[in-house]
Amino acid sequence: MIKQISFITISLLILINSCNQQESNSNTDTNTEQKTIKDPNNPKPMALMMRKLASNCDSMKSKINKGEIVDSFSYPIMPFWSAEPTDSSVLEPLFFDNAKQFQLAYQRLMQNKSSQKENYTTLINACIHCHTSYCSGPLKKIRKLTLDYNATK
Ligand code: HEC
Repeated sequence: MIKQISFITISLLILINSCNQQESNSNTDTNTEQKTIKDPNNPKPMALMMRKLASNCDSMKSKINKGEIVDSFSYPIMPFWSAEPTDSSVLEPLFFDNAKQFQLAYQRLMQNKSSQKENYTTLINACIHCHTSYCSGPLKKIRKLTLDYNATK
């Protein structure tokens, strides 16, 4: 029941969302990370930063899963909130509030090296939180960045 409700909610969000990089074959759940996003013709700076951010998180995820420490030299924070977006109507107070939460979570991850698993999880939740309001297309891809996501499940 909860699954159905969240499916309907997500479907509605997708319908009303301008961020429409959807994958068409949502059931083939393999490890083809980049294929889940269709290349729009002229990606804006914010979209490009987001792609880089997602691939950095993918790399951080595997390091943290192996017990390695990630740091801001290898993964500098990307200030996507000051980059030009595809749809400038996203640049409203709620977006910047979400961006601030993201920034704090990112700093916490890099500064507190003893609890990187928890802090990485908080960071990905900040991605998901903003994406439920602004750009639901990549949510499926972002969920795969969680530490316990298992593609073979
Ligand atoms: C404050 C809100 C916000 C946060 C936090 C956020 N995003 Fe985004 N994301 C956006 C918006 C808005 C876009 C659309 C950008 C555009 O099209 O210019 C986007 C686009 C994307 C895209 C699609 C890029 C493309 O190919 O067009 C991916 C993937 C993505 N984000 C991943 C992430 C990941 C991973 C995180 C966390 C590490 C994250 N986002 C955090 C708002 C956010």
